[in-house]
Amino acid sequence: MNTSRPLLVVVVAACTLAAATIRAQTTVSFSRTVYPIFEAAQCRGCHSDDGVASATRLHFPDPNASPDDIEAFGVTLAVLVNRDEPDRSLLLNKPTNRERHTGGVRIQPGSFEEQALRDWIRFLTTVSDATVTAARERLSATKTVSQPDQVLRRLTHSQYNNTVRDLLGDHSRPADRFPAEDYVNGFKNQLRTQGIPPLLEEAYSASAEKLALNAFRAGDVNHLVPCKPAHARDIKCRDQFVTAFGMRAFRRPLTNDEVRRYTSLFGTQAARSGQFLDGARVVIEAMLQSPKFLFHAESGPGARRNWRR
Ligand code: HEC
Repeated sequence: MNTSRPLLVVVVAACTLAAATIRAQTTVSFSRTVYPIFEAAQCRGCHSDDGVASATRLHFPDPNASPDDIEAFGVTLAVLVNRDEPDRSLLLNKPTNRERHTGGVRIQPGSFEEQALRDWIRFLTTVSDATVTAARERLSATKTVSQPDQVLRRLTHSQYNNTVRDLLGDHSRPADRFPAEDYVNGFKNQLRTQGIPPLLEEAYSASAEKLALNAFRAGDVNHLVPCKPAHARDIKCRDQFVTAFGMRAFRRPLTNDEVRRYTSLFGTQAARSGQFLDGARVVIEAMLQSPKFLFHAESGPGARRNWRR
């Protein structure tokens, strides 16, 4: 822990310096004028990590970014500005749909909002390359500081199919019927948070229910239970199943807390129906909907580098 502190201080100092430079050269406040307009127009819904426009050059910072970070973000938008002919800037013509924009008309031509955007674009034509670079560095430094060491990647649809095949012996390729990947997630499967778009969440939950039902439809034909339960409430066999299946589903041993949670879920259901396999079924259903199954963690410096790409 202590060894990383000097680095952090250097990064923070660099950020403060960059922020001062950016502020000194900025006469208009982006965070108080254009940014609220963009938020009201919901640009973020598509232009963020898990949105359909995640691969474009317009990429919103965290919703809780500091005003200095938002100011820096405003300056980085210079890449979407045509310095020689500001009227032909993508930053103006995409959101007004003068140039075909998948997001449609988000800012009405001729409106007050458009005028504010034009003012900002005019300002951006005057900003030096050094200022834009400083702003970009500030944003990526902030990201580095707040980044976790692990990158979480959502299973792609084809990984999902292969995983449930290996885990349950189920060859039905359920993810082939999920919402198309580019629709739910732009071009990326990595998320800063563990959020899942609502459409996909529904698909995951329906799929988990079906897979869990099918797993024991004809008894435990795929040998998912590593022991022979003496009766529906066989605690020893229940615990063995939860730890063994959990380890395969989450790709790591379960924590004590997880074991407690899933065995209790198992116990309630098995007691209710008087069937051991019914307890196992609800555990499978719950685990297949867990972010710990749906995301896999990549750690180490390589993962960090990928994140920043
Ligand atoms: C419903 C989704 C959606 C919303 C909302 C949306 N956009 Fe977009 N935007 C896209 C997509 C998809 C693209 C890439 C394809 C295209 O250019 O149409 C894009 C492209 C752009 C580009 C070009 C980026 C580049 O790298 O060339 C700009 C600029 C842009 N949008 C601005 C905005 C602004 C500003 C807002 C809010 C006022 C906004 N968009 C709202 C989906 C959206």
